[in-house]
Amino acid sequence: MAGSPEQFRGQSRLPRFAAPLRYDLVLRPDLAACTFSGSGSAAVAVSAPTRFLVLNAAELAVDRSSIRFQDWAPTEVAQFEEDEILVLGFGRELPLGEGVLSMDFTGTLNDQMRGFYRSKYEYNGEARNMAVTQFEAADARRCFPCWDEPAFKAKFKITLEVPAELVALSNMPVVKETVCGPLKTVYYEESPLMSTYLVAIVVGLFDYIESSTLEGTKVRVYTQVGKTSQGKFALDVGVKSLDLFKDYFATPYPLPKLDMIAIPDFAAGAMENYGLVTYRESALLYDEQLSSASNKQQVAITVAHELAHQWFGNLVTMEWWTHLWLNEGFASWVSYLAVESIFPEWNNWTQFLDETTSGLRLDALAESHPIEVDVNHASEIDAIFDSISYDKGASVIRMLQSYLGAERFQKALASYIKKYAYSNAKTEDLWAVLEEETGEPVKDLMTTWTKQQGYPVIYAKLNGQDLELEQAQFLSDGSSGPGMWIVPMTACCGSYDLNKKFLLKGKTDTMHIKDFAATQSGQNFWIKLNIDQTGFYRVKYDDELAAGLENAIKAKKLSLMDMIGIVEDSYALSVACKQTLTSLLRLLNAYRHESDYTILSHVTSVCLSVNKISTDANPDLSSDIKKLLIKLLLLAAKRVGWDPKDGESHLDVMLRSLLLIALVKLGHEETINEGIRRFHIFLEDRKTPLLPPDNRKAAYLAVMRTVSTSNRAGYDVLLKIYKETSEAQEKSRILGV
Ligand code: BES
Ligand code: ZN
Repeated sequence: MAGSPEQFRGQSRLPRFAAPLRYDLVLRPDLAACTFSGSGSAAVAVSAPTRFLVLNAAELAVDRSSIRFQDWAPTEVAQFEEDEILVLGFGRELPLGEGVLSMDFTGTLNDQMRGFYRSKYEYNGEARNMAVTQFEAADARRCFPCWDEPAFKAKFKITLEVPAELVALSNMPVVKETVCGPLKTVYYEESPLMSTYLVAIVVGLFDYIESSTLEGTKVRVYTQVGKTSQGKFALDVGVKSLDLFKDYFATPYPLPKLDMIAIPDFAAGAMENYGLVTYRESALLYDEQLSSASNKQQVAITVAHELAHQWFGNLVTMEWWTHLWLNEGFASWVSYLAVESIFPEWNNWTQFLDETTSGLRLDALAESHPIEVDVNHASEIDAIFDSISYDKGASVIRMLQSYLGAERFQKALASYIKKYAYSNAKTEDLWAVLEEETGEPVKDLMTTWTKQQGYPVIYAKLNGQDLELEQAQFLSDGSSGPGMWIVPMTACCGSYDLNKKFLLKGKTDTMHIKDFAATQSGQNFWIKLNIDQTGFYRVKYDDELAAGLENAIKAKKLSLMDMIGIVEDSYALSVACKQTLTSLLRLLNAYRHESDYTILSHVTSVCLSVNKISTDANPDLSSDIKKLLIKLLLLAAKRVGWDPKDGESHLDVMLRSLLLIALVKLGHEETINEGIRRFHIFLEDRKTPLLPPDNRKAAYLAVMRTVSTSNRAGYDVLLKIYKETSEAQEKSRILGV
């Protein structure tokens, strides 16, 4: 017989000679014993001569005697745990065309929060188990043998056998339910073509609330029994996001229903399973009384992100994990688009710079990696769900959108979704569509950003009427790397109405500012590059340009985003020893009178980093620097105080929490003492208006500062609150201090 099962070991991908078309799966979870059994059959298309079928399986006991392809039992069955594959050898070559493979198997409902797992919850004061799946990136193979790669799309018909009193959910709606004694069998509709990592099952006790989109898609939020009121906010955001994405992608939501469900034990923040999105409780539930403004924002962003995946990721899926960033970067970017439109008062696009900031910070390390990254083994995939795929990914998409223009970009995306619906795409497939629709050199431009790690800093120098530009790869250790990019440059001079846009293609370029700066002079002269920080790069201005920008900041001539970009770049350049700490501190001082949350969130984060660096480097100097930083934040902190004001904005509520936390961290005595005082009142009365959820973290941090080896009282009392509360957000607030 030709070949042996061994030949399939050590490969990064499954062979393509056979591919699944349709799975028919029956799963029987036993919630008491924490095991499950299953019977699966798959219609398989054999496209090239072979006597083998090779699929994925891990931590499953496959009943060898049950395996059949058509009528044939395999002559060889090899399960290689290291490779997570199951190889079936048959005594003859398989006929080309369609055949049916079937087998039975058993497994454990593990407590690793991956594959098919068990989560604990409480019902009427009693501990219970629920059964949940988490298959991304490569863990469907822990639930049933399958071709567990995103490009092997197939239809799924799922059947569950579960205790009759439980709620049993899957991707598709129920078609039929039969009860037999204590068990019921639930049959689900067949799904459209989809990848294995998006298959989902949840079995447990839940309540739900329901609403529907303009098109009539039923949307539900499932919570623990009695907690549905905490699901209302997510339901509302969910329905609005679906309506919005349907328009944005010019494609209807692809499934008949959408369920969103809160799971007590959950590894990620949320998972976009097709039609059954699972969430950590803190990322889905919102309670007017118990949640903070920042919890609220996180819920909105998470819901919008997961629902964006229903198109970008689920309907059109990356061909392989190398293109994971297409999923995650894109969903992150477009979640801001949705939230901006639902809550315009949150100034969400300005907050997007948080993503760009963390992408820029990570990607300035020599140890970073390109957005498109080689993946050879399933165990390597989890590591790329990082700030590069998400934050840099989202940021380069924003850069491209801004270069191409919002309308052209949207139109091209809609064609991309149409072209690759129910199928898979690679990064260059997206570039090709964008290029075709816009006539711009998208591929050349974007390849420099996705196939190459890092990003440039643009040195800008004024030479008479010329602005000289030079790019070099920015690294936070102060060295500079070999990278070169095609950089979408934008510049404005003295006013946002006077602006230019061009591509910096080589190492250097010169911009003539004569025409466009003619009217500017003296105090009013300033040039801002990278308008609104849409580009994924930093700018280092020469002294003259930097002074002009400092004046513009003080005179409030700049947009919020530009104010943020200038302070972030300046901080990064100081860390890399490209400018002095003094010049950073002087710049920070220009922000003293600021009172906007979005700006101050970056200013405080820079202040805290400077504090940390100076404390580590020189404890003597650091107390002076601390005083200076405290003084910087105090004006705004005094304005917002500790007590919420009637009718104040969402962002002011966030600002209060931000500043109180920063002042406590910087060791501001007055704030610390007030935090401790309010904490004691809170201990007596957990509903006191003197310590609303938004301010608690600051108070908890203040309390933790009193803890030492000889005095654990503060720690013990926080631990007690942690144990007493059933609110996931409160728990993570305490864990975070
Ligand atoms: N697809 C991911 C969930 C995921 C992450 C699965 C890592 C497997 C490994 C999901 O869409 C996601 O990105 N979730 C984010 C939340 C989002 C708001 C950025 C998360 O879990 O933090
Ligand atoms: Zn995601």
